[in-house]
Amino acid sequence: MSRNSDIGPDGRLPDDLVSSYREHGFVRVRGVLGPGQADRFRAAAEAYLDTHRGDSLEKGGTFSQLVNVWQPDETLRDLTFDRRLGRIAEQLAGFPLRLWHDQMLVKEPHSNTATEFHQDRPYWPHADDRLPLSAWIALVDVPPERGCMTFLPGTQDRSGLRAQDLHDADDLFAADPELRWIPRVTVPLRAGDCTFHSGYTAHMALPNSTDLARLAHVVIYMDADTVFSGDPHPVTDSLGLVKGARLDGDAFPRPWA
Ligand code: SIN
Ligand code: NI
Repeated sequence: MSRNSDIGPDGRLPDDLVSSYREHGFVRVRGVLGPGQADRFRAAAEAYLDTHRGDSLEKGGTFSQLVNVWQPDETLRDLTFDRRLGRIAEQLAGFPLRLWHDQMLVKEPHSNTATEFHQDRPYWPHADDRLPLSAWIALVDVPPERGCMTFLPGTQDRSGLRAQDLHDADDLFAADPELRWIPRVTVPLRAGDCTFHSGYTAHMALPNSTDLARLAHVVIYMDADTVFSGDPHPVTDSLGLVKGARLDGDAFPRPWA
């Protein structure tokens, strides 16, 4: 458990971290989970993984991806709905947010596969939205060799690229060859720390070559006014939405408001 926290007694981030997020498109926030919380959520994530491994949306072996765990699991819902986390996300974004979805992303021990560089927002069926962002929360210590994240600072402005294949180390750079030459920032996290990154900030995650599973819980926030683009996506496919419908209601709550 991290002994340090970047969050003030008022539950807010200092201005320099907000400025850093706005400039670089990502920021590390230490100690988003208080003492004991990381242990509680790690135990819940391990139990959830034991019974739901087969439900992974990602079948390529890069990680297990268990989406919308907040719906069946009361303990993990406490994490996804965490008011302090949601309010910090709104402080970073600068406008009201809703939950888009959460996901548990697990790299099993010695799985040895990187999540290759990509942007998240091109995968999503969103329109008319301002910059979304994700909180990637470490539930165990995640040094580089266990699969922490690496970011390309400043890429939050590159909003015109096609979707990229996160199984192909060259695909982002095929989409925009200039990005290969941006200095890369790798961010190890202690259990209970997180990074926030925007939906257009290019990122990858290193392989896990250790004996311990890399357990990350990701809460993805979108502009509260986002509408449905009509494109297919596992989160929206079963909801019977028409193109242009607002993504709001019970499926996309804002419990921190
Ligand atoms: C990962 O944790 O392996 C990837 C996370 C992401 O792409 O947002
Ligand atoms: Ni991603």
